[in-house]
Amino acid sequence: RKPYVYITRKLPEQIVNKIKSFANVGMWEWEDKPVPRSVLLEESRKADALFTMLSDPIDEEIYTDAKKLKVVANLAVGYDNIDINGATRRGIAVCHTPDILTETTADLAFSLIMMVARRLGEAIEYVKKGKWTSWSPLLLAGADVHHKTLGIVGMGKIGEAVARRASGFQMNVLYNNRHRKLEAEKQLAVEYRPFEALIEESDFVLCLTPLTEETRNLFTYDVFKKMKKTAYFINVGRGRVVVEKDLIRALQEGEIAGAGLDVFENEPIGADHPLLKFPNVVALPHIGSASMETRLAMMDRSVENIKRVLDGKRPISIVNPEIYE
Ligand code: GLV
Ligand code: GLV
Repeated sequence: RKPYVYITRKLPEQIVNKIKSFANVGMWEWEDKPVPRSVLLEESRKADALFTMLSDPIDEEIYTDAKKLKVVANLAVGYDNIDINGATRRGIAVCHTPDILTETTADLAFSLIMMVARRLGEAIEYVKKGKWTSWSPLLLAGADVHHKTLGIVGMGKIGEAVARRASGFQMNVLYNNRHRKLEAEKQLAVEYRPFEALIEESDFVLCLTPLTEETRNLFTYDVFKKMKKTAYFINVGRGRVVVEKDLIRALQEGEIAGAGLDVFENEPIGADHPLLKFPNVVALPHIGSASMETRLAMMDRSVENIKRVLDGKRPISIVNPEIYE
């Protein structure tokens, strides 16, 4: 019997064809609409493998009926949408796409730093709306990035890649992480700080942590209040690490200078979202890893992970290797 792979979003034909070489394939045929829950539940019952997006919750209800399921391959480095313990108990491999998206996501994080500091979003609108009628000395004057202090919360591979970019801007880089990274401290000249000290000292606070029970709601009003009033908050991790109403309050009260956000508490956000009312907020639609090269490489990685598990081999990037013990 050929295994059955269900893909939860329309993918390019070249990727689908690779899967067809070793499996029967079902796919949700919309590019811009997530698979409805009822369809996902139905397909999971038949599937040996699920090729999932970060917007698909994979939980106990799915596993209960998914008797054939051997692998869930998430097209992301993050996997907070997946119940890992439930998968592990059933011997289901959960795979993700780390490493290949590191540099691309670091590019986006650094872009947000530049955008908020130099008010580029406002500046683009200004020209497009025909407001540029004269040169003036303080027109859209923002803040410098070079020689400032960058505080990275969540020092994984992406954090290290941002630190390398920051050193080119002669920034002073601080980091906070569950574990000290002594090698990174030596090679990248980054300094460890306790969370609170990092928040107080940084001109840019960059959040890159995954969403876990420890990081959920980490950024509260009190945290924003401890930041410098001239400091910017950048989030390229997960929206639920931030208490969004607290961020809104901090912006209203001028406790921080602005925010650059690629992720939100509830995605997608609509045009009426309260954060969009602030001229000093730059909002992006969760595109951290979205270069054509990297997204295709991530898809290839998911295909390879699925193929290996279905062949009885270990995948390249697995979240729960315990299933092999
Ligand atoms: C994107 O947010 C990812 O986790 O890859
Ligand atoms: C990604 O690879 C990270 O851990 O930051």
